[in-house]
Amino acid sequence: MDQYAQTSMSYVQENNLSNSSRRIFSKKLDSFEETYKIFVHSIVNNYFPTVENRNTSLNYCPPIPPDLQGPLIIHEVPKTFSLTSNSSYHTDVQFGGYYQPKACLARHKVAIIVPYRDRWDILTHFLFHTHQILQRQQLDYRIYVCEQAFNTTFNKGIVMNGCFKEILKLEPDTPCFIMHDVDLLLIDDRNMYTCPLYPRHLSVAVDKFKFYLPYAQLVGGVLAMRREHYLLVNGYSTNYWGWGGEDDDMHARIVKKHLKVERPPTSIARYKMLKHTHQKLNPARMKVLRTAHIRIDSDGVNNVKYNLLNTTFYHLYTHFLIDVGEQPK
Ligand code: BGC
Repeated sequence: MDQYAQTSMSYVQENNLSNSSRRIFSKKLDSFEETYKIFVHSIVNNYFPTVENRNTSLNYCPPIPPDLQGPLIIHEVPKTFSLTSNSSYHTDVQFGGYYQPKACLARHKVAIIVPYRDRWDILTHFLFHTHQILQRQQLDYRIYVCEQAFNTTFNKGIVMNGCFKEILKLEPDTPCFIMHDVDLLLIDDRNMYTCPLYPRHLSVAVDKFKFYLPYAQLVGGVLAMRREHYLLVNGYSTNYWGWGGEDDDMHARIVKKHLKVERPPTSIARYKMLKHTHQKLNPARMKVLRTAHIRIDSDGVNNVKYNLLNTTFYHLYTHFLIDVGEQPK
């Protein structure tokens, strides 16, 4: 029994609670212990460090970051915060949205891929909120905003694959990638943005879905993957034009390559979805999905076609502007 459970148990004994309230109390304790155990196990045993070749005299940061707060309140973005100037709220973040802890060596190096188009207010809120959490998680990270250029149909698969390739050109040793929808704000900082042994679906409980996973195959929203697994499944399909489907295709790829999808407990993997107008729905997505297992090796990061139009280093993010071309007729 851990220290928390012991203290709580002696509270039960000392206060001489009735048998029925004792049963309820100890049930609550059991479930707390269970969730806590899963959480500690997933961080300590499962998250092998993903930093490589570091020439430093610093000691590793502790396995469980000491400043985590647990459940969070989402604050409004202050009026004085803007993405067009340097942020006085994030003074430790370096240009290009890069951060590493000063006092210890991060155990994890992570690239956050944010596919994006046309949602400036949401991007502002996302960056304001997310940087603070990732710093408390003591990660070595950089946030990449990968924007699709022009007013063509959105193709999230091409944007993410293009972004993945460009990141590897800039920082070839990046071992861990987190694909992150811009409209999701994490509301519990114990949900670590790191890459365990298997792909890990991090957005399990979203307020829009009443904090339940809508279906077992869902890997959309926020997904963490090691570089070798992204390459093994050949990244995302490039055949989904418009909203939806590319994440379901990713799940089919993960299964086809005999990987598992891990999930943190729902009590921790919680998100608020910011309100926004949706991209145009892809009516063909279910039809395309039926051929996912056939296309896996011929449609993905190994043959993605795109043009990188621009790379800009803003204070809170590295911006890639990507032309995905026209949807085939
Ligand atoms: C879509 C997915 C989406 C999910 C949850 C499915 O119908 O195909 O892309 O992530 O709904 O919104």
